[in-house]
Amino acid sequence: MSKILLRGMRLIDPATATDERIDLLIADGVVASRGVGIAVDEETRIVEIPEGVVAPGLVDMHVHLREPGGEQEETVESGTRAAVHGGITTLAAMPNTEPTIDTPAWVEYVRSRGKLTNVHPIAAITVGREGKTLAPLAELAEAGAVAFSDDGRSVADANVMRRALQYATMIGRVIIAHCEDQALVGSGTVNEGLASTRSGLSPIPAVAEETIVARDILLAKSAGARLHIAHVSTRGSVELVRRAKADGITVTCETCPHYFCLTDDDVRSYDTSTRVNPPLRSADDVEAIREGLRDGTIDAVASDHAPHSLEEKQVEFDAAPPGMVGMETLLPLTITHMVDTGILSLGKAIALMTIEPARALGIAAGTLETGAAADVVVFDPDGKVEVTADWFRSLSKNSPFIGSTLSGRVLMTIHNGEVVFEEDLGTAHGSSENHGKRAAESNELVVGV
Ligand code: DOR
Repeated sequence: MSKILLRGMRLIDPATATDERIDLLIADGVVASRGVGIAVDEETRIVEIPEGVVAPGLVDMHVHLREPGGEQEETVESGTRAAVHGGITTLAAMPNTEPTIDTPAWVEYVRSRGKLTNVHPIAAITVGREGKTLAPLAELAEAGAVAFSDDGRSVADANVMRRALQYATMIGRVIIAHCEDQALVGSGTVNEGLASTRSGLSPIPAVAEETIVARDILLAKSAGARLHIAHVSTRGSVELVRRAKADGITVTCETCPHYFCLTDDDVRSYDTSTRVNPPLRSADDVEAIREGLRDGTIDAVASDHAPHSLEEKQVEFDAAPPGMVGMETLLPLTITHMVDTGILSLGKAIALMTIEPARALGIAAGTLETGAAADVVVFDPDGKVEVTADWFRSLSKNSPFIGSTLSGRVLMTIHNGEVVFEEDLGTAHGSSENHGKRAAESNELVVGV
């Protein structure tokens, strides 16, 4: 097992209220110690990058890995490779695969294939995500399901949703709600308003989301359950969650970078990578999302990494499947649009991508306290990222951010004490001593090296 000393860099660990220049020693796969001037033996690799910030490896609580069934778009292997390129060491994988992850065997299959990062499968709430019969939640939890969701669609039947919330509470798991009323969405593909009028594309009103957010909050309250709302995108949803929290209801929620850095005006280009569910919203909604992140109403920033192949996306806007890839742009988009704009401190932004989602899922991750698993990201908040199709490690490239330059460059990702991704630090970024064994291609650095 490697020993690594991250020396004298700015360490941000919101879970322990730490933001200072100190050393962090990694040994036996865990954070062995933190402090000033830690002495090490010559076996220890020393990493010292003046511009580097050391933070807990990111926790992305909303990812689509597409395995089983969509391996041409992403696999657990390719998805985790993309994850570590984005500084993510823990991810939760959605069950809208082919077949649906609604059996213990599929949960175990996905979980066991995660090598470069922790992969926590989210199992379906209902069999086949059909919204009718509850999946065997206890057995799924036993097999390792971290949460339950029919993501991609809501559970339309309120009684089924209520029973799911009650059952999940009994076994100590959270239900993750995709909030869109199918009848109100209809054949819609873009936000109702100027965007739909201008483009001629079918509209999805904000109330399609808000009506289910309100319903699920009320159901969670009546069941005394823990509810998490996925990809919140409207002002009304933020207000509903804010009020629910003030009323003491145990609800958490996430948003995604595209809901705070793009608006429905961006579908103007008919670029199918801007088609997402829920759709990109108005500038006023974006404002509310930013405020919700700032005041703590929104607990987490997740990517909703939704890979789709070029063939599927190179069609008319209305015919394209919804979703964009997002794990690799999660950190740079958040830094560029939320930190560099002065809305969030870097520490708060890190919290939204580490300890907060870990808490929402109820997992031990997202902190660098002594004894914790050594899951670490080292990044340069001012380092530039030129987003090109080739830059993505994901099998899919459906990103509207191709062509943009962002701030927040991941330099190194460490999972369970092993380097799983690194830039060529020797040439590009500061100094790094005692390199140890380093593969020529950084992407080849894998667990066990
Ligand atoms: O845009 C989306 N794509 N939203 C979802 O809820 C599902 C996802 C997907 O699976 O592609």
